[in-house]
Amino acid sequence: MKKKMISMMLCAVMTAAMVAGCGSKEAEPNEAPAAGSDVEEDAEAPAETGAPAEETEGEGEAEVSEGGTLVMATNAYFEPYEYYEGDQIVGIDAEMAAAVAEKLGMELQIEDMEFDSIIPAINSGKADIGVAGMTVTEDRLVNVNFSNPYTTATQVIIVQEGSEIAGNDDLEGKIIGVQLGTTGDIFAEDVTDATIERYNKGMDAVQALSNGIIDAVIIDNEPAKQFVSKAEGLKILDEEFVTEEYAIAIAKDNEGLLEKVNTALEELTADGTIQSIIDKYITAE
Ligand code: ARG
Repeated sequence: MKKKMISMMLCAVMTAAMVAGCGSKEAEPNEAPAAGSDVEEDAEAPAETGAPAEETEGEGEAEVSEGGTLVMATNAYFEPYEYYEGDQIVGIDAEMAAAVAEKLGMELQIEDMEFDSIIPAINSGKADIGVAGMTVTEDRLVNVNFSNPYTTATQVIIVQEGSEIAGNDDLEGKIIGVQLGTTGDIFAEDVTDATIERYNKGMDAVQALSNGIIDAVIIDNEPAKQFVSKAEGLKILDEEFVTEEYAIAIAKDNEGLLEKVNTALEELTADGTIQSIIDKYITAE
């Protein structure tokens, strides 16, 4: 395992995120039409790394303005950040995005999709913002801008209670489950001789672990706690994999919205709103 490399990479990512937060105009390979708000249910987009979807339906100008609808793309199987309560999507991201929308004088509309469809949805104009416990990474910064981070998280390892895997180094040669296209997926690729099983939902990976189909799951710490509490005989290893920052993804050509979102986040941080939303969903141990 190349822990040094990972931490170096993250430093680069944080720097890059700050640059993006300052509205850098570098690297814009994916000039996509600006976001409109007529979004279909179940937005499906093709590629994993953010290439714009073939058909585009933006009218060329961003309709993200007061009185309009702010469309949030997410993957709502990621408690406590986004998950279903009945047919409602709730969670930290959902509430925070609603608070941001309110600051912008807009109405929030949440679109649930596969995690790896979120960036393509933003770039095709099907969504205005991606809020999905999404980690700022260098690769994603090629395709989208990120707001200033609103929280930090860590990647952790889940194993069966009796597992011989006691730390990160024991993952070598093992079968690791991840959610497709997440940072857990990226870090699993760094593990020597590991086999990676990719699932559409984190919980599906955890199910496979419960059933003994895989040896470990790499996933974000808070969802990990939720998943483990709902399964039998699993535990989270103490050793954390890496620390990350979550931020809101916005199309490269929508710098006006990036600025508005950052201002809203600043205000919501200053008046304690963000912290109280987090505290509502994550209780300190
Ligand atoms: N933080 C990880 C990432 O950005 C996982 C996010 C998964 N989010 C979700 N809503 N399923 O890759």
